[in-house]
Amino acid sequence: MMLEYVLEKYPASLKLRDGTSVLVRPLGKRDEKRLHKFLLSVPEEERLFIKQSLTDPLSVRDWCRHPDFERNLPLLMMQGSKVIGEATLHRRLGGWKRHIGLITLLTHPEYRGRDVSKVLVTELIGIARHCGLRKLEAEVNGERKIARHVLAQLGFNELLKLDDYVLDMKAVTYDYVLMGLNLKVDEEYAGIG
Ligand SMILES: CC(C)(COP(=O)(O)OP(=O)(O)OC[C@H]1O[C@@H](n2cnc3c(N)ncnc32)[C@H](O)[C@@H]1OP(=O)(O)O)[C@@H](O)C(=O)NCCC(=O)NCCS
Repeated sequence: MMLEYVLEKYPASLKLRDGTSVLVRPLGKRDEKRLHKFLLSVPEEERLFIKQSLTDPLSVRDWCRHPDFERNLPLLMMQGSKVIGEATLHRRLGGWKRHIGLITLLTHPEYRGRDVSKVLVTELIGIARHCGLRKLEAEVNGERKIARHVLAQLGFNELLKLDDYVLDMKAVTYDYVLMGLNLKVDEEYAGIG
């Protein structure tokens, strides 16, 4: 199914488990400042675990101004005008991993444990399925026990663990964990990349 049809359901109003009313929608061109503010709310020690330098204003600007949802689809959770969570579906449009989406997740520190991440990743699982992806994967630092817990609750399994495999910005090593989920596919996606 075409991505544009799948995205027609957004913005979607939802309630979190504590009753907080929120809106879920894809990243928009005017989200630059609020997304940057959200990323800066992430504690320094956690930023060390994020792969890209997302707190760099120029990369945030590029992300907002030149969206390519076929490749990177960031879903935001908003409380009013504040970004409280973000999860992105990354796709490779060709090659041997074209059937596997990669997801990343991040929740504002003041909004953790309220299902923000579970709701966003559940939405991305639905989108991935409609787009014909067959699998999802997430690369997690072994220390991120909560991230592994959230993904496991959503049906992801640990596919691979490599001890002392990744480096943080201070050159300390951590275990690398690859988690994966098999999707039930709505339609065949077998285009040759
Ligand atoms: C991992 C992360 C995205 C989870 O976000 P979240 O919105 O708090 O997740 P949810 O509320 O949907 O679910 C969290 C689960 O972990 C539990 N949890 C949340 N914070 C916790 C904490 N500090 N201690 C223990 N458990 C915690 C919740 O109770 C819930 O489990 P439950 O349903 O069994 O009660 C968030 O902690 C984060 O942004 N971490 C930094 C970035 C990261 O590690 N990303 C993953 C790599 S891509």
